Amino acid sequence: MRVGILTSGGDCQALNATMRGVAKALYKMFEDVEIVGFDDGYKGLIYADYRIMQPNDFSGILTKGGTILGTSRQPFKLMRVPDENGLDKVEAMKHTYRKLKLECLVVLGGNGSQKTANLLREEGLNIVSLPKTIDNDLWGTDMTFGFQSAADIATNAIDCIHTTAASHGRVFIVEVMGHKTGWLTLHAGLAGGADIILLPEIPYDMDIVVNAIRSRSKQGKGFSILAVAEGAISREDSLLSKREFKEKKKSGLVYPSIAYEIGAQITERTGQEVRVTVPGHMQRGGEPCPCDRVLSSRMGAAAAVLIRKKKYGYMVAIRNDELTEVPLEEVAGKLKTVDPNSSIIREAKMIGISFGDE
Ligand code: F6P
Repeated sequence: MRVGILTSGGDCQALNATMRGVAKALYKMFEDVEIVGFDDGYKGLIYADYRIMQPNDFSGILTKGGTILGTSRQPFKLMRVPDENGLDKVEAMKHTYRKLKLECLVVLGGNGSQKTANLLREEGLNIVSLPKTIDNDLWGTDMTFGFQSAADIATNAIDCIHTTAASHGRVFIVEVMGHKTGWLTLHAGLAGGADIILLPEIPYDMDIVVNAIRSRSKQGKGFSILAVAEGAISREDSLLSKREFKEKKKSGLVYPSIAYEIGAQITERTGQEVRVTVPGHMQRGGEPCPCDRVLSSRMGAAAAVLIRKKKYGYMVAIRNDELTEVPLEEVAGKLKTVDPNSSIIREAKMIGISFGDE
């Protein structure tokens, strides 16, 4: 029996740990299993770049960040668009799958990758997918692997800023990854003791942000720390259509990112010195944390169980600490966002964190 496997989209810390989990469980369950690893995500499936993996390839990788297979972004919206040589990518993927006589394909990926996984399912391929992303924004699972490791790094960045912020009495902004959802910023902000947390799901009012900083100054607190998501948005911008928003960005002062824009506004209104830190891709790097190693190992084993049962067309998920699976058609195209009325937001507000909204 041959099982294909690929890692797709932006990487994260626990991709190798998850593949190891899948492989170890498969080798234990089946005597005759051969695992085919595709290079650089769906690209490897399209262009038939693959290698036959050996059990040893999956040893010693539990703690190794990145992905031993490589990854790439192959946007879902371009999947039906032929490549520069006129190749039909979907047909090419089906061809590779059939040529290799795969029993199924295991896909480790985030939102876009799950959409393509679902497309391949609709095209008749046997798919098992696993929820990868530091953003934790995949619908249907309480947690994605990669999230907790990235939260550790983003928290550490805020921790480091704390000591210097206290010495200098400045306003510091740490910009955390997450364009569409704010899970990482919320968790790192809470864990790192940020004073203000700005998320894409809770449009901020600059007057409220500035008041929160002023009120800290009045209490004799010389510094403030803001954890700002890449996709944080002001209340007025959130009312614009996508096109109007793009036009506004083009016509105004162009900042490298939202943290710099907010920083400039804070200095203008309060006269306070502001410093911006962007940990960026550090958040996806390094070793997976213990929580991710556990989650990945469990999810990998759960994927192998689906293969043993020939239960295809599902994404492995965790709910209430139990491993389960969700139909790919339900997952594809849906985001799990932070609910502004959820208890975690209420509790954060109770301890004095401002989200710039009230
Ligand atoms: O989806 C994971 C993620 O790290 C996001 O948090 C971030 O906005 C994006 O990928 C960055 O993508 P890239 O690595 O392509 O710059």
